[in-house]
Amino acid sequence: MTTITVQVDQPGPAINPAMWGVFFEDINFGADGGLYAELVKNRSFEFPDAMMGWFKISPSKARGTIEVRTDRPFNAANPHYLRITSEGHDLFGVANEGFRGMGVREGESYRFSAQIRLAAGDPKLRIALYGSDGTLLDSVCISGFSPDWRKYSAVLRPCSTDPRAKLYVLLENAGALDIDMVSLFPEKTWKNRPGGLRTDLVQMLADLRPGFLRFPGGCIVEGSELDKRYQWKNTIGPVEERKLLINRWNYEFIHRPTPDYYQSFGLGFFEFFQLCEDIGAEPLPIINCGMACQFNSGELVPIDQLDPYIQDALDLIEFANGPKTSTWGAKRAALGHPKPFNLRMLGIGNEQWGPQYIERYARFADAIKTRYPEIQLVAAAGPEPADSRFQFAWEKLRELKADIIDEHCYAKPEWFFNNVHRYDSYDRNGPKVFMGEYAAQSDKVVSVKNRNNLECALAEAAYMIGMERNADVVCMAAYAPLFAHADAWQWRPNLIWCDNLRVFGTPSYYVQQLFSINRGNRLLPVNLELLSETRSGQRFFASATRDDASGELILKVVNGDDAPVTAMLNLAGAKEVTGNPKLILLAGAKPSDENSFDEPKRVAPQTSVLSIDSPHFTHTFPAFSFCVLRIGVR
Ligand code: AHR
Repeated sequence: MTTITVQVDQPGPAINPAMWGVFFEDINFGADGGLYAELVKNRSFEFPDAMMGWFKISPSKARGTIEVRTDRPFNAANPHYLRITSEGHDLFGVANEGFRGMGVREGESYRFSAQIRLAAGDPKLRIALYGSDGTLLDSVCISGFSPDWRKYSAVLRPCSTDPRAKLYVLLENAGALDIDMVSLFPEKTWKNRPGGLRTDLVQMLADLRPGFLRFPGGCIVEGSELDKRYQWKNTIGPVEERKLLINRWNYEFIHRPTPDYYQSFGLGFFEFFQLCEDIGAEPLPIINCGMACQFNSGELVPIDQLDPYIQDALDLIEFANGPKTSTWGAKRAALGHPKPFNLRMLGIGNEQWGPQYIERYARFADAIKTRYPEIQLVAAAGPEPADSRFQFAWEKLRELKADIIDEHCYAKPEWFFNNVHRYDSYDRNGPKVFMGEYAAQSDKVVSVKNRNNLECALAEAAYMIGMERNADVVCMAAYAPLFAHADAWQWRPNLIWCDNLRVFGTPSYYVQQLFSINRGNRLLPVNLELLSETRSGQRFFASATRDDASGELILKVVNGDDAPVTAMLNLAGAKEVTGNPKLILLAGAKPSDENSFDEPKRVAPQTSVLSIDSPHFTHTFPAFSFCVLRIGVR
């Protein structure tokens, strides 16, 4: 029989409390159209096609004009606005289509707001929400406009739920109005913050209990060219002053073009830090290191011109941690957070490689370590887990005594099953490993055929077992990408899928969650003796940890094969089991099983009592399963 021996009385290395985290990038409508709850697309008319997302509404009797203008704008960072002029024979104006529609719920309230300036006459403005079938869901009238830019707002309460509503902004009578920053936000946001985040999506993150949040990317940190890189300083302060930028996922894949994908930065660096605090995750911001995406232009900032980039990194640390009296600490305090955010890690570049990266990393590391020796730096090792770029990066970064090296891997499930022992031979005295981006690809990387199925989730679970068993060298890991909008994605697979009203976690989501909430704080040695004549040897893996707080042993077992495995379990060193041992099972009928909006919990953890009364017992691990056993031991 297969035997699993856990050496309960020989606790090994401590496990980083921040070991299992999440990686957020604005891809697949992850921020605008996703986590950031704004319902109006192109609210500031700053898309290069200023009317993208907007339509003229002109019933037959109506007469009027709409015009995008830039004279005397509301704000210099946001120079375009719309003038609506009506002759007054009928309602006349514009409608916004939202991000693939606007998801609104009956019984909830939505705050409309806009910067408006009276241009002529004394018009009344009708703000209306229409459902996808043309039903009026609610409307409200605003009047008495000032000849100066001013913010006006009103609340709409739709009479029914609609995933694809539209917002209408119409003049009721003759006159002209200038409008800008047209916004519609659910009042119910995460922590009810005005202009905040989608509650259901943040809840999904909170439920993962992530140890860290890596943000804001990903390739968007690099930009396809340097002028399109992510610049954190442009993402803080009043939203109307955050300058719009094209999202590189707008045009990256010819097979998935998304011409309406831009970054409003409504979810900016302050909000990222706040989100980390809300969900108890360590912030791990990634900063551009003077290199554009090497899959695109690969543009480089000359070494002698790198200082402003390094200064951005130093200022970011001050923004997060500096006292209120410091320049950037004062800005954080002014935004409502006088206390520091306790930043402890910073990533230098995303998925960089080659000598140009090493040279730039070294400059950043020198400057940052001189001023902030306590900050742990995360260095890049390229996009692949074992190619020559990876080997080169490791060799050089080891010489530079880098703290943490970020490995990335998008590969077939086989790769993950075959690499469970990858870290067994890593040098214990070199840099720590951060598996910063990984996901099993059922087809191949960047293929639209990739599925978030059970087999991929089990492959990731097996690999995570390997990381856990090597928790003395692997300090952190995160799946990628995190979110995808079902109607606007560029990349799959993804951890969490949403549409305008719904969300579900994939089998991979539940794997991440099971590791995170069953982390334990000390590794326990596990010896696995596989029954050689069964096929199960190929995809059967186990790791164990101890949770000092509850006194439990946490055993994780992946059976990725198509036959159940009955194993003898020896909890060596334990005299008796205590409490109520528990089994948490993630399983499915077949490897291709998936979750969906209609069946969000088809593959989801099931908890049951584990009926055992001795530290030596047999247990059958079902085919295609991931099991977590929590057993109190004395
Ligand atoms: O996760 C999607 C992309 O994959 C990330 O932006 C990048 O870092 C990697 O190539």
